[in-house]
Amino acid sequence: MNHEIETIQQHLAKLRQVIEQHNYNYDVLNNPSIPDAEYDRLFHELQQIEHRFPQLVTADSPTQRVGAPPLKAFSQITHRIPMLSLGNALEDAEVAAFDRRMREDLEVDCVEYAVEPKFDGLAVSLRYENGILMTGATRGDGYVGEDITLNLRTIRAIPLRLTADPLPAVLEVRGEVLMLKADFMKLNQQQRENGEKEFANPRNAAAGSLRQLNSGITAARRLTFFAYGIGIGEGSTVPKDKHNHIMEFLAALHFPVAPECGVVKGLDALQQYYHDVGSQRDQLPYEIDGVVYKVNSLAQQEKLGFVSRAPRFALAHKFPAQEAVTELLDIDVQVGRTGALTPVARLKPVIVGGVTVTNATLHNADEINRKNIMIHDSVVVRRAGDVIPEVVSVVLEKRPSNAKPFDMPDHCPVCGAKAVRLPEEAVVRCIGGLFCPAQQKQAIMHFASRRAMDIEGLGEKLVAQLVDNAMIRTPADLYKLGLSALSGLARMAEKSASNIVAAIEKSKNTTLARFIYALGIRNVGETTAKELARHFGSLDSLMCANIEDLQQVTDIGPVVAQSTVDFFSEPHNREVIEQLRFCGLRWIERANKTGESAHHLTLAGKTFVLTGTLPHMTREEAREKIEKLGGKVVGSVSSKTDYVIAGADPGSKYDKAVKFGIKILDEAGLLQLLH
Ligand code: IVH
Repeated sequence: MNHEIETIQQHLAKLRQVIEQHNYNYDVLNNPSIPDAEYDRLFHELQQIEHRFPQLVTADSPTQRVGAPPLKAFSQITHRIPMLSLGNALEDAEVAAFDRRMREDLEVDCVEYAVEPKFDGLAVSLRYENGILMTGATRGDGYVGEDITLNLRTIRAIPLRLTADPLPAVLEVRGEVLMLKADFMKLNQQQRENGEKEFANPRNAAAGSLRQLNSGITAARRLTFFAYGIGIGEGSTVPKDKHNHIMEFLAALHFPVAPECGVVKGLDALQQYYHDVGSQRDQLPYEIDGVVYKVNSLAQQEKLGFVSRAPRFALAHKFPAQEAVTELLDIDVQVGRTGALTPVARLKPVIVGGVTVTNATLHNADEINRKNIMIHDSVVVRRAGDVIPEVVSVVLEKRPSNAKPFDMPDHCPVCGAKAVRLPEEAVVRCIGGLFCPAQQKQAIMHFASRRAMDIEGLGEKLVAQLVDNAMIRTPADLYKLGLSALSGLARMAEKSASNIVAAIEKSKNTTLARFIYALGIRNVGETTAKELARHFGSLDSLMCANIEDLQQVTDIGPVVAQSTVDFFSEPHNREVIEQLRFCGLRWIERANKTGESAHHLTLAGKTFVLTGTLPHMTREEAREKIEKLGGKVVGSVSSKTDYVIAGADPGSKYDKAVKFGIKILDEAGLLQLLH
């Protein structure tokens, strides 16, 4: 028996090591080495064995990265080596003065520096004892931080166990926890879809995700980590000579080290590095707010010492603020594809972070009120990365006597249709739908796009030409265009005109899913369109569906259900659909779903929500299995949900399930229930 346990233990150790290597390849090297399904299989195997032998679960097992029961409060951790701050410089002259100080104090002609990005995230310290991650803490006041070990364990870029021979007895790795820009965008989209508050920037999102008493929430968010140094380092292998050797040492231990880190000599090279990194800033996958220069030699660092709370041997060279003050000349209202009315600030031109800005978004009427913005005010404008510049705040002291409040129009400025605001929404929308000229071009473009009706050759210029010449107003008009009308257009060759006519003709043969997607119903993307087509089988039954019917469809919550009902209740939209059918658009339909015989319905009355990727079946397959037994699968978690089935990378539904205390099952748990 002991022997058997030993064999299992060895197998588990090997399995964990293989899984962590894949985590490293995926999260640190951005170079996945096996298909997701294979990774899931390994992970599932580990979970199953650990489930059978709970006494063999270790704190460093990858299965422990999913979070732990919520804490009541964070406890405190004292940093034996304080986590200091950095001196700042903005001007070139300050950098020159820094380099002069270094040369003079060290009595050398030229200083070697380690150069690094200044990550815009949250500083943490990770303590490893004999290679095992024991504690992780926030910076706090630099001397005492909060114990966020459970949360840090969920970040896959952070090793739970180090492999080296010999292992350092104690190693405190210092670095920054970040949320990548791409993950930040995804998270905010999710928050939007769930009607929850969006985060202002990746830093806030990372902070909000990391400082959670419930580490299950941290686990559901995608965070990453970059190392930039060490605190305590006990062991013969810890480099004692140069900072860049410490960074290489950390990289070899599988800590993420930014590829932008380097070593340079002299002042000119510092300035060069600053400009190089600055020019890459918008393209980097993570936010930075400057660069950091550190004297590379540790002996020289020691000689230079500290002033108050910052090392004398390091300097943060910050990028210029991406903010500027200018006059708000006027507020225009723009109409987007989905009819959203967006107030846009017309600004007196101003340079923000090196770019001239003349327009900035004001988001919506609530934001204007909340920020107390009036026309002719002096406003603070911010530009972050490549996103649209925004008006952040108003300089009240400078408000002129002719300042004018702004009223959101109650009619669409383009088509004159009513502009309404749905109860849970911040935006006002034109209800003109496909009949609003502002929305026409965009709607037609979307209708013709590759994943919708796939009309080849119908590009932006041609659509604009057709709409501007009043030749088409709705997608249905496309099917009434003749060869002569098209070839009569400026710059249109006979051959291309006949190609387009043929492409339009060809598009008539389509699928219900494509057609639903092509309609451009708000919040109905390609995947949702497919689900709707699968569930309802015919356009008529979809058009008759009410909010409750729609919420029966996989992944459809109240927001999507409402916008679908709204779309089909708009007479203009129904008319366009009628015309499209009349023009000969066709697809295969099937009758509505029928129920299964009643005596198998062991899950009758039970409500399920699916989230994340299941290892061995698609969510659709899971849904079918549940529905076969009479269970109901809905799109969002509420107190009425009985089970949440969570796969890998679950969304915010997982957080909600934790919050409501709803039973969470993995795929294996679901299968058990089904049997
Ligand atoms: S070194 C003793 N390196 O900046 C020096 N800090 O203002 C300790 N930071 O709280 C810091 N990137 O969170 C260092 N490459 C980098 C950094 C960095 C970002 C943050 C760090 C610290 C703050 C200091």
